[in-house]
Amino acid sequence: MNALQATDLRKSFRVEGRVIDVLRGVTLAVPEGAFHAVMGPSGAGKSTLLNLLAGLLPPDSGEVSVKGRSLVGLPDHELTLLRRRSVGIVFQDCNLIPTLTVAQNIALPALLDGRDVPAERMETLLRLVGLTHRRNQPADRLSGGEAQRTAIARAFAMAPDIILADEPTGNLDSPAAAEFCATLTRLNRELGAAILLISHDPQVAAAADVVHILRDGQICGAFETGHDPATVSANYLERMA
Ligand SMILES: Nc1ncnc2c1ncn2[C@@H]1O[C@H](COP(=O)(O)OP(=O)(O)OP(=O)(O)O)[C@@H](O)[C@H]1O
Ligand SMILES: [Mg+2]
Repeated sequence: MNALQATDLRKSFRVEGRVIDVLRGVTLAVPEGAFHAVMGPSGAGKSTLLNLLAGLLPPDSGEVSVKGRSLVGLPDHELTLLRRRSVGIVFQDCNLIPTLTVAQNIALPALLDGRDVPAERMETLLRLVGLTHRRNQPADRLSGGEAQRTAIARAFAMAPDIILADEPTGNLDSPAAAEFCATLTRLNRELGAAILLISHDPQVAAAADVVHILRDGQICGAFETGHDPATVSANYLERMA
């Protein structure tokens, strides 16, 4: 079964009386435990797609399912629960609570769900993101890279089926971005959750095993990265030509 399946997703926006067809039938699957990425030019609809996949925005038509459970048409409270328990989300801006510590931020989604992150899982998460020594640091005293690694640990805390990340390295310099990508790979391999990463940066997308290209509102191809940024660049440019 796929961790994430999107089928024929369509989404338009109305702006000043004009209709923009942003997604025109997107079909995409991320198998269980896989690490995939989506690349595409600015304005191609990548963030819109991610919002649909996360159940944050309803599609005009089409289907999204997480491990076989459909998100579309669920009542709000059921959608909230499914999202909280099965989908981890990371945005460019990591949205940490500045006055809470690293460990408190990681535990927050579980807390909101009336649960606790088991001590052993917390230790594993802190170790995998390299923040064991920073666990009691308030979030507003972290570097950009540390803050984003806290956000990714938070996304993994509830043992979700799929992690969705929208340009998570957008505010990081290249060494911090590289460290973030290595962290994502480590979490994917050791904790098993599937990942769908959105990035326009070949260096970042190369962390994924497979890249899908979003162009003109549709997925126009997918290729294996071999974890090589040059392969990613060449394949991307070829499909954009
Ligand atoms: N809520 C909205 N209302 C109207 N138009 C929108 C809305 N959200 C997105 N759009 C439009 O949809 C198109 C796709 O936007 P989106 O943010 O999904 O692109 P993107 O691929 O993520 O771009 P970038 O790489 O710059 O982040 C753009 O033309 C944008 O202006
Ligand atoms: Mg975007």
